[in-house]
Amino acid sequence: MKIVLASSEAIPFAKTGGLADVASALSKALAEAGHEVTLFMPYYPQSTAKRGLNPDDFEVCPEKVSITVGSKEVEAGLRKASFPESSVTVYLIDQPRYFDRPELYHESGRDYQDNCERFIFFSRSVLEFADKLGLSPDIIHANDWQTGLIPALLKIEYQDRPGFEKTASVFTIHNMAFQGQYWHWDMLLTGIDWKYFNRHQMEFFGQLNLLKTGIVFSDMVTTVSPTYAQEIRTERFGYGLNGVLDTHAERLVGILNGVDPTEWNPEIDPNIAAHYNASTVTQGKPLCKAALQERMGLPQKPDVPLLGTISRMTDQKGFSLILDAAENLLAMDVQMVFLGTGDPYHEASFSDLAKRFPDKVATYIGFDESLAHQIEAGLDIFLMPSQFEPCGLNQMYSLIYGTVPLVHEVGGLADSVVDASGENLENGTANGFSFWHFDSTVLYRQMRRAIDMYLDKPTWNQLQHTGMSKDWSWKQSAQNYLSVYQRAGSYRANNTE
Ligand code: ADP
Ligand code: GLC
Repeated sequence: MKIVLASSEAIPFAKTGGLADVASALSKALAEAGHEVTLFMPYYPQSTAKRGLNPDDFEVCPEKVSITVGSKEVEAGLRKASFPESSVTVYLIDQPRYFDRPELYHESGRDYQDNCERFIFFSRSVLEFADKLGLSPDIIHANDWQTGLIPALLKIEYQDRPGFEKTASVFTIHNMAFQGQYWHWDMLLTGIDWKYFNRHQMEFFGQLNLLKTGIVFSDMVTTVSPTYAQEIRTERFGYGLNGVLDTHAERLVGILNGVDPTEWNPEIDPNIAAHYNASTVTQGKPLCKAALQERMGLPQKPDVPLLGTISRMTDQKGFSLILDAAENLLAMDVQMVFLGTGDPYHEASFSDLAKRFPDKVATYIGFDESLAHQIEAGLDIFLMPSQFEPCGLNQMYSLIYGTVPLVHEVGGLADSVVDASGENLENGTANGFSFWHFDSTVLYRQMRRAIDMYLDKPTWNQLQHTGMSKDWSWKQSAQNYLSVYQRAGSYRANNTE
């Protein structure tokens, strides 16, 4: 199959969250399964420079296209890159006016005011370049609101053009909380006829909604875990679009993300102090724990339980619960490590906690991928009490690194973490701890429960072993995407106007 993926971020070029990991890893897994894969993303020169890449790493392509955005004509350039040992072609769409900025979407807590325009430009550029480069894709796979316009443009403007006669679209929702909602006049920027601005298509309570647009116009819709696919059809998790998703439920599929074993693997990870696998975890992991304690300025105590998290610091990730529970837990002999950036309120609370408990808590406010790997390898218990979690990657990274996750039983967390109940321990499926009531006292009790089990070494090793032995790679999930692509193709063939 010829597959075009579009994403607003992808490692190693730019990353704010899990989407970046998924865009690259899924592209590589599809290519490995024998398909012709092209990944489009914007070219963010400041982000790539911060990540240690320089402009020469991106070949400048001769092709250019002119994109109409409202009343403006804006030129899009193209750069080319690749992933090591992969046949995926990565095209980065170059327009400094939109993408040469310090951050991807916002600075100092404020969204860039022209985000709608920037990503309409990006979405149109993907289709124009797919045309210009003669890619003739079978599938265009768009991700999140930033590319929500692509399925609509394909249906409305491109589907009869040569090269697109068979192209079907798949739209993946990575997070319902971010919908790309803009005032109605931004409809003019899309270049799409006002007749589509109605409550069944692009309009949502008087506004333009790009996530809804992607859902409505694509041939198949996916989200990043089977449980989240169910949850988003309910009021609690649907962020207002539950009704829309219910209407389109027969085209909605949940596929759990995987993990890229070349990025997250304690046997080869260049960032960590010692390498280990399921059989050597009890030798390698203590060295990583000591190195982490040293790096974070905590006393090097091998037997003190070390808990922590790595995350965007937002309400979604349950930081208020962690703060409350931590205040109680710190009466015990424990240590905690926090890495994150986000909501200034959470950043301040966790920095303050570290100041008040310098021998027990270390907080690093910032985005540091190497440290993220060291934390995954060094912690004993990974905290992920997210209010909602479409998939979540860190609980899977934790399982692979022998770090036992403690999670709220929602979305992808429910699909990957099996609670250490007596029954699950007995049948050998338990790999972590999970709780249902979203409450800090419940989290505190679960932390105590996890620490008790940490002190029971044989049981703890069993949990680690179960997590580390499972195949978390993209292999199966990539196959599931391929079936969705097939279904999208049939849907497209049967629904051509
Ligand atoms: P989300 O995409 O909702 O933020 P995920 O769990 O899917 O959550 O993915 C988050 C990704 O971002 C993980 O790879 C995690 O390690 C990484 N990450 C989040 N915050 C930081 C940070 N401050 N420094 C380094 N990596 C981070
Ligand atoms: C989103 C979700 C996260 C998911 C990631 C990748 O950012 O919040 O749960 O893992 O996308 O799909």
